[in-house]
Amino acid sequence: MGETITLLSKREIEKMRRAGRLAAQLLDHLAPMVKPGVSTLQLNDEAERWTKAHNATSAPLGYHGFPKSICTSINEVICHGIPNARQILKDGDIINIDVTPILDGYHGDTSRTFFVGTPSPTARKLVEVTEECLRRGIAAVKPGAKIGDIGAAIQEYAEPHGFSVVRDFVGHGVSNIFHTPPQIPHFGQRGKGKRLRPGMVFTIEPMINEGTWEAVVLKDGWTAITKDGKLSAQFEHTLAVTETGVEILTLPD
Ligand code: MF3
Ligand code: CO
Ligand code: CO
Repeated sequence: MGETITLLSKREIEKMRRAGRLAAQLLDHLAPMVKPGVSTLQLNDEAERWTKAHNATSAPLGYHGFPKSICTSINEVICHGIPNARQILKDGDIINIDVTPILDGYHGDTSRTFFVGTPSPTARKLVEVTEECLRRGIAAVKPGAKIGDIGAAIQEYAEPHGFSVVRDFVGHGVSNIFHTPPQIPHFGQRGKGKRLRPGMVFTIEPMINEGTWEAVVLKDGWTAITKDGKLSAQFEHTLAVTETGVEILTLPD
């Protein structure tokens, strides 16, 4: 029963490490561009240029018809926002930039939420809590733990702050394929789900909302927004389960 979870070899994990490092360096490269007046298309085009210059390609471009090279998700957009020349960053916005370069056949999938200028106190709190959710989710990863331990750690931190955990989008296995089993929910119960084993590689990418967790996908078929129009934030890393714990693959060095 159920789908097979591929365990990656040492050689494959080294390729994931290189792709992951490139992904993190791409976010570092884009970070100084996140300023009022910049369009999300400018971020996209610089990401595409930089990725090609580093002998990589952009996994999102053409993935199930996605039209751009990165996802840019502003304020109430939960994920999968499409870069657009008419969408201009303004002071007080929060923007998640999600990048996935493919290097030597392997994917590095990572995202961060950035402040544009000065955030509101609520926006700052939401983004800080979301980053801590990712940190706590990662801390739950070790051989013998269960997939449910990850979501439980995230949900138990987010909800007492009055925030909610998105249900409709989850973390995922990632390798030479962008999205593979297992699914990694960011909510759930400790002790439930499949056991983690060395060589598993997957993302944790909690999307945390200011209000309701419910999502609506716009008519473009991609952009997912909060049903109540309140803020949403997200952070993502790609991770490998090691013999002793966890290795974050999407760090810049
Ligand atoms: N990078 C996203 C993720 O974290 C997936 C984007 S799929 C796209 O899984 F088609 F929207 F690019
Ligand atoms: Co991603
Ligand atoms: Co992902």
